[in-house]
Amino acid sequence: MRNVGIDIGGTKIAGGVVDDDGTIIEKLRVDTPIDPAALVDAVVDMAEHLRRAHDIHAIGVAAAGFISRDRSTVIYAPNIDWRDEPLRARLEQRLDAPVTIENDANAAGWGEYRFGAGRGVRDMVMLTMGTGVGGAVVTDGELFRGGHGIGAELGHMRFVRGGHPCGCGQNGCLEQYASGRALQREANDIADEGGIGAALAAVRAERGAIPGPAVSRLVLAGDPGAVEALRRVATALGEACGGFQAVLDPEVFVIGGGVAQLGSDLLEPVKLAYETSLPGYGERPVAEFAIARLGNDAGLIGVADLAGKER
Ligand code: BGC
Ligand code: NA
Ligand code: ZN
Repeated sequence: MRNVGIDIGGTKIAGGVVDDDGTIIEKLRVDTPIDPAALVDAVVDMAEHLRRAHDIHAIGVAAAGFISRDRSTVIYAPNIDWRDEPLRARLEQRLDAPVTIENDANAAGWGEYRFGAGRGVRDMVMLTMGTGVGGAVVTDGELFRGGHGIGAELGHMRFVRGGHPCGCGQNGCLEQYASGRALQREANDIADEGGIGAALAAVRAERGAIPGPAVSRLVLAGDPGAVEALRRVATALGEACGGFQAVLDPEVFVIGGGVAQLGSDLLEPVKLAYETSLPGYGERPVAEFAIARLGNDAGLIGVADLAGKER
């Protein structure tokens, strides 16, 4: 049985035809249009193209927002202009096929649980560090959704009282301290401070801003300012994971999203902060940490797998 999985990201839409065992048979990528109507058109085009050459059972679409419990509506999206958007109906009308929609991080977490870094455990938490911070919780082998379908928004847990304003209308959310954007903010702050910020300041002078990939490149080159910026966001994420451990007690935390491409440079400071934040540390079981194994494909693979089963 093959399904189409489509993951709507902040910059790219990725779609693929996915087999029962999580293998991608064919894959496409396009830029994400800014206009919401054009975005729906792009998803429809991609789905039509993908199913032309394959026998498709269902279509799954992952989106960065709060999805209603019946999986039909994007209730709210902190970083996209969607409010009560009836995405499933819009897509089903045009595609004449069953469509399942899912939160992007839930989809990625499910993909990792089934076919990636979470294989073989029953309790897993995934955090995606991209434009925002996404969360997914698998508990006793089930994807946790909460009473209204919109639980596991781990990025919008308040992390700092009176902290930075967040796209969700609150302030101090983890997303403001542990996302790819937070990494850029820290890099800017360090560039302002001078000293170890010299290389970051030079990038900013040349390019007008400090792009995320530039911070990553400097981290890999061992630049002390970039390493410090990463240490700050990794510490925020790790401290939050100590709290998630207290509530959810996962066996493994899987970390994905653009920042996760830094691999062990990210995981080491995350683990340090996590361990020192755990209640009862030294006298209790602790979780493993892993980088997402399916990389950027986790969301489309996960949502294709969910699409086969959810209706
Ligand atoms: C949104 C989540 C999403 C995450 C990652 C957050 O701002 O609230 O729904 O999963 O970003 O895209
Ligand atoms: Na989620
Ligand atoms: Zn928030």
